[in-house]
Amino acid sequence: MKRSTKLVTLLLGIYLLASCSNDSDDAKSARNPDVERGRAVFVANCIACHNNDPSRDGPIGPALKGSSRELVETRVLSTSYPPNYKPKRPTKVMPQFPFLKDEIPYLAAYLSQ
Ligand code: HEC
Repeated sequence: MKRSTKLVTLLLGIYLLASCSNDSDDAKSARNPDVERGRAVFVANCIACHNNDPSRDGPIGPALKGSSRELVETRVLSTSYPPNYKPKRPTKVMPQFPFLKDEIPYLAAYLSQ
């Protein structure tokens, strides 16, 4: 390899590494694998209706940031709410996701932050 080619390759490598570490919008949560898994499950199943950023309302569903584990579990596995919880919306639009039973702790870790 020519010397200049090596240099270009090296610079490209540094650039790619730097842009990878900027990838996450939330550097704090990026270090927590539970939160990361929850984020992946959320993006795969929930953002058709909820916002990609849980602190904001989505096109159909409300903002979810700060949701307790109990709330996430009751909403995702059934159409009910925890006792005494006042729902953000009076509607019953959201479907159930029984296949996400094992992912509840991760979803909750991500959404409760
Ligand atoms: C088809 C659209 C849709 C999808 C997909 C969806 N939701 Fe919802 N979600 C809603 C709507 C609309 C509401 C408001 C209540 C209702 O109408 O059911 C809601 C309400 C909620 C609430 C209660 C918010 C509150 O404080 O009152 C939680 C928690 C929630 N969704 C979590 C999720 C999670 C987690 C996923 C992914 C596994 C998801 N939702 C997928 C539409 C959706």
